[in-house]
Amino acid sequence: MDDASIPSVGLNSGHTMPVLGLGTWTMTDEVADKTVPVAAQLGYRMVDTAAFYQNERGVGEGIRRSGLPREDFFVTSKVNGRDQGFDRTLRGCEQTLSRLGTDYLDLYLIHWPMPMRGLYVETWRAFIRLVEEGYVRSIGVSNFLPAHLDRIRDETGIVPAVNQIQLHPRIVQQDSRAYAEKQGIVVQSWSPLGQGGKLLSEPVVQKIAERHSKSTAQTILRWHLDQGLVPIPKSADRDRLADNLDVFGFHLTDEEIEEITRLNGSEQPMNPETFEQD
Ligand SMILES: NC(=O)c1ccc[n+]([C@@H]2O[C@H](COP(=O)([O-])OP(=O)(O)OC[C@H]3O[C@@H](n4cnc5c(N)ncnc54)[C@H](OP(=O)(O)O)[C@@H]3O)[C@@H](O)[C@H]2O)c1
Repeated sequence: MDDASIPSVGLNSGHTMPVLGLGTWTMTDEVADKTVPVAAQLGYRMVDTAAFYQNERGVGEGIRRSGLPREDFFVTSKVNGRDQGFDRTLRGCEQTLSRLGTDYLDLYLIHWPMPMRGLYVETWRAFIRLVEEGYVRSIGVSNFLPAHLDRIRDETGIVPAVNQIQLHPRIVQQDSRAYAEKQGIVVQSWSPLGQGGKLLSEPVVQKIAERHSKSTAQTILRWHLDQGLVPIPKSADRDRLADNLDVFGFHLTDEEIEEITRLNGSEQPMNPETFEQD
C-alpha cells in the first residue's frame, strides 16, 4: 500500500490531512521509534503525538528511519497543560520541534482546555503567531466543548481546523460534532476503538463485521470514516497496524451505522470542564 491509498480531507487552513492516522499514546520513545517506520511502510502518513506522551523523540527518530522525506508525513503534536499561556506555548512548541527534529508541525493542538486555569485564549493567540512565523501549518484544539470554541473564535476571529475528541460508538458526541460541522471544523476521534476494550466484542459490531468479512476493529473504523470522522487508532503490533489501515475497500450502510450508534451512552466521556493536565 502507498500513501495514495489514504484519502485526505481539506482543512480551513488550506492544507489537507489524511483521513486516518497512527495514535501513539502509551508508546515509549523506543516503541515509537520501532513502530513508526513499520507503520510508514504499511502506508500510514499521519502520526499523532503530544508533549505529554514523552515520545516525541522516538516519533521523530522513527520518521527519519522510515526513509521517507519529512514532507510525506503529517505530524500532529499538542501543547502540554503546564505550557499554556502565550510565552510558554511559544517555548513549548520550540521544544516539541526540537524533540521531533523537524522545523515545522503539520498540526498543533491545545491538548485540553482546562478552563479553570483561564489560559486557553492566550494559548490560542500563540498558536496564531506560530502559524504566522511558519512553525505550524494548521492549528486546532482537543477536548474543547462548543462554549470553549465560541470563546476563541469570538476573541481571536480564528476558528480551529480540527477538534480532537474522545469519540467511538459508546461515546458519540453529537453536540460537538454538530457544532463542528456548522463551523467547518474537522473532528478527529481519539480512542476510536474504545482503547481496544469491550467495544471490540460488542455483539452488534461482531454481527456487522461478519457480514462484511472484516474484523470488529475495521468495522468500527469504518463507522468513523463513513461519518466523516478522522480516527487515529494506536497499535504497536504489525498485524493490527495493517488491519487498521485496510479499511478503504468497504462501507457500512446507514442502517448499520445506526445500529452501532445505539451503543451510545454505555460509557461516560472524560469531562473537559474539570480535567487538569500537568
Ligand atoms: N487528545 C487527547 O486527549 C487524547 C487522549 C487519548 C488518546 N489520544 C490519541 O488517540 C490515539 C488513539 O487512542 P487510544 O490509544 O487511547 O485508543 P485506541 O486507538 O482506541 O485503542 C488502542 C488499543 O487498542 C489495541 N488495538 C489497536 N488496534 C487493534 C485491533 N485491530 N484489534 C485489537 N486491538 C487493537 C491496541 O493494542 P496494541 O498496541 O497491542 O495493538 C491498544 O491497546 C492515542 O494513541 C493518542 O494518539 C488523544
